[in-house]
Amino acid sequence: MEKPAGDLCAAHGDGGLGVSRVGIMVGSGALQLGGGFAFAPHSGARQTPFGQASTMPQVARRGEVEVVMLARHGDDHRFAPHEINYRANVHLLAELDVDGVIAINTVGGIAPSASNGKLVLPDQLIDYSWGRAHSFAAESDLRHVDFSEPYDAPLRADLLRAAGRADIVLQDGGVYGCTQGPRFETAAEIVRLERDGCTLVGMTGMPEAGLAREIGLPYASVCLVVNPAAGKAQAIDLAEISEIAATGMTRVARLLDAFLQGLET
Ligand code: HPA
Repeated sequence: MEKPAGDLCAAHGDGGLGVSRVGIMVGSGALQLGGGFAFAPHSGARQTPFGQASTMPQVARRGEVEVVMLARHGDDHRFAPHEINYRANVHLLAELDVDGVIAINTVGGIAPSASNGKLVLPDQLIDYSWGRAHSFAAESDLRHVDFSEPYDAPLRADLLRAAGRADIVLQDGGVYGCTQGPRFETAAEIVRLERDGCTLVGMTGMPEAGLAREIGLPYASVCLVVNPAAGKAQAIDLAEISEIAATGMTRVARLLDAFLQGLET
């Protein structure tokens, strides 16, 4: 089941068909990618050995590149962060034989540099979530995986190169603190996260990243900062968050398009 971590470009040609298949785990709905990607729902089953994935993935192909996009919160954002079946979602992408997963996460900014609208590629995380089914390991198949570097380095490098080509500012490095949600944090909780070294805070980064590592999928997260974390500014404003998320996601789509174009050449 385990795939070697590595470069999606190097994985090009996998299976002898010359196809790169990229998994994209999105927060809500599907991202509108430009450049001729016409998405259609995948026709296969949503059921996995770990239960049902949040929804059916959307798939599209352009030339030699296939995209499998899965909305982790399901249709109409049905599942709160603690209700998501992360194991089924990650397992389904692995079953569909993606070469790696790019996760798109909206986050609150803790560090001053993580201001509204910024795109950040974290290189570390701390998990504060609890009670989530967080591992594929069972008594009969117990494996410990190295997670010192939670995000795949070659995939991060490819994303940074794509950002350069598309003239998009993508901050290299950050520490993602994953909280339980669905409520936002208290100001004191954010002080604690900051003291721990977190620069970003979100609710869905784990156990997704850990599960991808367990199953051998290269995984990186592109974070869009949509609000200052609790206590960093005035009270969190949901209308403002939606507005920043909507405009920011067009930049995320451009970044992904540049990344996918890079796989074709
Ligand atoms: N905290 C946790 N998750 C989030 C935030 C936040 O401030 N903003 C977007 N996702």
